Amino acid sequence: MRDALISRARSTTWRVWAAPGPAARPVGQAVGPCASRARPNTDATSIGVRPIPRPKHTSPRPEADDLRASPIRERVLVTGALGCVGAWTLKAALDAGDDAFGFDLGDRTQRLDLVLTPAEQERITLIQGDITDLDGLGRVLDEHGITRVVHLAALQVPFCRADPALGARVNVVGTVNLFEAVKQRLNRIPGVAYASSAAVYGPDDSSPAPESGGAAPATFYGVTKQTNEETARLYWAESHVPSFGIRPYVVYGPGRDQGMTSAPTLAMEAAARGEGCEIAYGGDAQYDYAPTVGVAFHRAASVREGAVVANFPGVPASMAEVVAAIEAAAPEVEGRISWIESPLPFPAELEATALERALGPLRAPALADGVHETIERFRRS
Ligand SMILES: NC(=O)c1ccc[n+]([C@@H]2O[C@H](COP(=O)([O-])OP(=O)(O)OC[C@H]3O[C@@H](n4cnc5c(N)ncnc54)[C@H](O)[C@@H]3O)[C@@H](O)[C@H]2O)c1
Repeated sequence: MRDALISRARSTTWRVWAAPGPAARPVGQAVGPCASRARPNTDATSIGVRPIPRPKHTSPRPEADDLRASPIRERVLVTGALGCVGAWTLKAALDAGDDAFGFDLGDRTQRLDLVLTPAEQERITLIQGDITDLDGLGRVLDEHGITRVVHLAALQVPFCRADPALGARVNVVGTVNLFEAVKQRLNRIPGVAYASSAAVYGPDDSSPAPESGGAAPATFYGVTKQTNEETARLYWAESHVPSFGIRPYVVYGPGRDQGMTSAPTLAMEAAARGEGCEIAYGGDAQYDYAPTVGVAFHRAASVREGAVVANFPGVPASMAEVVAAIEAAAPEVEGRISWIESPLPFPAELEATALERALGPLRAPALADGVHETIERFRRS
């Protein structure tokens, strides 16, 4: 039965994504698909661990005992730090007064430039490394006296689809490495905050999907995220490594420029330039404002018990509402953003109560405000 469900979900996905339907709104003038002007920062090549030369970090490295005695200033390592959520998690760490360390395979800092001021970037230590290298990761944790970890490094849906073996190495083995490294340092690092995804659900899950669900992913990427959750469960059960997994849905906001659901933010970027474009999916989904997602991941890094998994409490919206919010913030593109009415292969809505119960209220902005702030930031960049 389970196998049947999985194969049905997969075939639905391929049908949806291989042959999208007609544009939901005819465009007023010829526009192309929403695309990023930034070059991607994932080159999928293992390059070993070495420092990225650019940023400086000046604070001295405290001893482990001092770290335990200092509850307000943590040394937070963010893996996948040069990604969209990574940049916002680094910002959340700085805003909380912590020392921030970014770990990433790539070396392109364009998202940090969008999210952080030059003064903020000066306060961050960037380390170039590969999450699939357990020894290198352990060295980084020790050399920098890391006391909190947020694990975001991953390959998203299109990259996993293009190279499933690499996707499994990065998303599955990389996450096992992170848990293993923290397990060996529980005296200094209380647990792991990590990114799961709404992609653990499939199109046949009910909506709103129960938070306890997520058994039949429709993508290989979703399978890797589901495996991360199972990895977390077993590291708690067998080794008492606490963890907090957050499942974002569609993250939007400055820096979101790659992955299957980046098109709404790319449309905001285009709107800031006065251009329209076509979004390659439609239907109803939940929208998670990237700065708020970063705050949640930073808070989750202080987890001390259990293997918690929580959906991100995003804003449910149809694509028509997303486009209306873009047009309200950039009236010059009115009628020039179109979308394909193919829904994402996930339930439209997710139950999401566990996250704020555990981490406190996040005060996420309304969709219109988040879209407005995003377009304003693109205009200033
Ligand atoms: N963006 C979304 O809508 C969304 C939704 C659900 C879940 N997530 C998850 O949240 C996390 C962050 O998402 P994002 O949008 O910032 O992704 P992103 O693609 O923007 O960033 C991922 C980062 O991971 C880095 N990376 C890739 N392979 C690596 C390796 N081997 N070692 C070290 N770093 C490596 C990349 O260079 C990149 O900077 C990911 O785990 C993603 O799967 C994102």
